[in-house]
Amino acid sequence: MPRNILVCVAWPYVNNAPHLGHIAGMNMPADIFARYHRLAGNNVAMVSGSDMHGTPTALKAIDEGVTPEEIATRYHEIWSRCFEQMGFSYDCYTHTHTAHHQEVVHDIWNKLDEHGYLFEASQSMPYSLTENRFLSDRFVEGTCPNCGFDGARGDQCDKCGRTLDPADLINIRSKRDGSTPEFRDTTHVYLKLSAFQEQLSEWVATKDDWRPNVRNNTLNYLREGLHDRAITRDIEWGIPIPRDSYEHKRVYVWFEAVIGYLSATKLLAKERGEPDLWKSFWEDPAAESYYFQGKDNIPFHTIIWPGILMGYRGLNLPTDVVANEYLNLGATGFSKSRGNAVWLPDYLERYDVDPLRYYLTSIMPETSDSEFTWAGYLAANNNELVATFGNFVHRILTITNRNFDGVVPEPGDLDDADRTMLAACDTAITDTAAALEARHFRDGLRAGMSLAQQGNRYVDQKQPWATVKQDKQAAATTLWVGLNIIATLKTVFAPFLPSSCEKIHGMLGLPGTIAEDGWSRVEVKPGTKLGTPEPLFRKLDDSIVDEENARLVRPG
Ligand code: MF3
Ligand code: ZN
Repeated sequence: MPRNILVCVAWPYVNNAPHLGHIAGMNMPADIFARYHRLAGNNVAMVSGSDMHGTPTALKAIDEGVTPEEIATRYHEIWSRCFEQMGFSYDCYTHTHTAHHQEVVHDIWNKLDEHGYLFEASQSMPYSLTENRFLSDRFVEGTCPNCGFDGARGDQCDKCGRTLDPADLINIRSKRDGSTPEFRDTTHVYLKLSAFQEQLSEWVATKDDWRPNVRNNTLNYLREGLHDRAITRDIEWGIPIPRDSYEHKRVYVWFEAVIGYLSATKLLAKERGEPDLWKSFWEDPAAESYYFQGKDNIPFHTIIWPGILMGYRGLNLPTDVVANEYLNLGATGFSKSRGNAVWLPDYLERYDVDPLRYYLTSIMPETSDSEFTWAGYLAANNNELVATFGNFVHRILTITNRNFDGVVPEPGDLDDADRTMLAACDTAITDTAAALEARHFRDGLRAGMSLAQQGNRYVDQKQPWATVKQDKQAAATTLWVGLNIIATLKTVFAPFLPSSCEKIHGMLGLPGTIAEDGWSRVEVKPGTKLGTPEPLFRKLDDSIVDEENARLVRPG
């Protein structure tokens, strides 16, 4: 029975272009996972979109003197284009500034209200005397009461990840002009998160396969006790509130962005002309849902979103929240706001997609922060992709072309070395699957590369280019085994390096598509005409390391 797998990717703020930190943290793992499950024959919906109503977008609009919608739309287009170029296989990539999303948000709002989980209260909030308006979330900064970091924002501390209220900030100041705001009372709608304390604790207790960082972070919040949270703001940019006398307020961006997972799945159903499709991912109790994101997003996905879902009733809670640590650039973080990053649009102008997909997966910050370096990128490309994987494929195909007219030869009797290699192919298929099922992406990639290394050693030993002169049958057997190894590499690398694997599929003269082969070891058939061999990866010159490092502006 195919499984229903919902792949949810965090919705990026659109106040700037994507950088490699985003990609390694959320898009790469989600795309590998989705592609693997499709090949394994499961029903996949991979959904996300741009988080249009974030305060970073509103802030940038003020700086540039344009509307927030203009900024959001501009960057939404850039993110969408980059994702397409990267080969990310979203079934639906939308954004939150649509009538459809608003409708779904209002439905959730009204149900929560009906079920008694919303209430109104007055709150003291920072008010700017220079701008005559309330300052919420990222419009203010100050010192974090939890870790002492001085750049903490009104909704969260970037250093320790703690969710905050503006009143928690020590030395609060306006992010706009540095002035000290005054606290004034304002009325807001609250979500009664405290009502879910017990239900959430019981649910999290069952999640013993979550990554330790996700589990511990969540348990900390639960241990401290959940607070009710304001879900409206005194701003103009965002989703209107379905309640009288709230015309000048908007829905809190985090409350509505997480609802995007549901609204995007419903949109996908509409677009496919199967209006009930979304239910197989959200209402079928056997369906699974996986949420991919950076670690600063954890409490929103393990506490607030499940709390909303519990209050709404009848929709599936997350199966797993797969949060990565951070990918650092040298000693400093990839941070858009600090301007020190490798920007994806720049990368895509200069280099190929699959080497980046490969390198970012090989250094994915799964259990601790990791580091991107151009030297590491160069080594991964030249030593692993070109010299190991690409070289193996190229050797086998060109020797076969030269000596067997580009036709898969008929093997003779297999010896131990041949049988060992074919067994290694089966192992690579099962090991990669096991790693990806467990959301261990680096291990999955390693299983594939280890098969390519074994393949090279096998061919070095067998020397088919030499044996072909004395014992053509022996060479034929080796090449047939080699072609089967390539066919296996094509499958195990497909989730990671999709366009290279498409090329291999063609070069092997395999019928149909990679999708039709599924997650299995296809045998190459003797007599099959091979396609034209072409290089899979290009060797890069060592000089790119200095060139690229010179482009990075390092502060201080
Ligand atoms: N925009 C948020 C960020 O960049 C992530 C939102 S994820 C969602 O940190 F769940 F809210 F959609
Ligand atoms: Zn902090």
